[in-house]
Amino acid sequence: MGRLAKLPPYLFSAIDAAKAKARAAGVEVVDLGVGDPDRPTPRALVAVMARAVAEPEFHRYPAQRGQGSLKNAVAGWLEQRHGVRVDPDRQVLILIGSKEGLGHLPLTCVEEGDNVLVPDLGYPVYGQATILAGGEPRTFALRESAGFLPDIDELAAKMDARTRLLFLNYPNNPTGATADPDFWRTVVELCDRRSVILVNDAAYMEVAPDDRRPTSLLKVADCDRQRVIELHSFSKMFNMTGWRIAFAAGHADVVGDLGRVKESIDSGVFTAVQQTAAFALGDAFESLLAEVMAAYPERRRVMVAALERAGFAVYPSPATFYVWCRVPAGTTSVEFCSRVLDEIGVVVTPGVGFGTGGEGWFRISLTATDADIAEGARRLGAWS
Ligand SMILES: Cc1ncc(COP(=O)(O)O)c(C=O)c1O
Repeated sequence: MGRLAKLPPYLFSAIDAAKAKARAAGVEVVDLGVGDPDRPTPRALVAVMARAVAEPEFHRYPAQRGQGSLKNAVAGWLEQRHGVRVDPDRQVLILIGSKEGLGHLPLTCVEEGDNVLVPDLGYPVYGQATILAGGEPRTFALRESAGFLPDIDELAAKMDARTRLLFLNYPNNPTGATADPDFWRTVVELCDRRSVILVNDAAYMEVAPDDRRPTSLLKVADCDRQRVIELHSFSKMFNMTGWRIAFAAGHADVVGDLGRVKESIDSGVFTAVQQTAAFALGDAFESLLAEVMAAYPERRRVMVAALERAGFAVYPSPATFYVWCRVPAGTTSVEFCSRVLDEIGVVVTPGVGFGTGGEGWFRISLTATDADIAEGARRLGAWS
């Protein structure tokens, strides 16, 4: 079978179609489906961009692996924010969004017949990128009973001589789970022993309450020796999903190989966007982040209170802007989400869209306006 034919159907297209149908039928749809922040990029960043876009020198091809000033800003930020030291030249790479980096990573190391460990449940890109590179995604479970962390023995049992990568994602979409330093230590050691590259998709690293700041994989691993890579994104951190900018940091060879693949495929991120990103990680970082994250605690409180009032079991997520919730007994996640759209006009995402491990759950995104969150909560709160 060809690689494209092996790609699973994209569930979110089916949800979009159902949503469009409901709207066409005159339903006032409240969309709590996608994780795309409703609020604009902070004005201070838009102002930096407006100046940068007028600079003729930025209108030319960007520095392929990233502007030196941004890579330096990333290294400084990683040290200050996460206690991680990396060499900006060899251990940092600028990406066109973390999806791009995740999508290209398997091309660095996966040959026909190799396999890659991907979480079930998880962001679909890990498995799809593996298939497109000619590899076989091998799933492992994330269970509620283990705080949605993988079982280390299961991971070890699934690794063999042809396992090239292990994808993890903490803070986790869709569950909101986070990984602690002990977990990272164990999994770093395992991957090191078995010569498997460990990847953490950290797109949601900064989407967490300040007093529960998640631990970076890079803080625990020895990035000079151990083959690890972590991908951070500006998308959710600064309401910049449309700008397309992120970065990878970690072991120099792993980061360098990804840079080599990218050099054959793309030409980097618009320099004006990189300038803005460098500014965002500088002195203004704390206040910009606080401005963006201020939206979520109250939205979460309103939504969780309504869901619990209606008898739903909500998973107590420490991070991300998602609410992860059990569907009522006796129904599948797709059946439940279809009913929610048909009967109360609210779009929520069926857990099974993230893999079979998501069956029995649904996800609400808190990236809708306060008014939509309140209305969605009102409708869901009256569910019976
Ligand atoms: C887990 C996860 N990783 C990566 C991404 C991609 O983010 P971006 O490409 O905007 O950096 C997303 C987007 O929703 C995500 O949910």
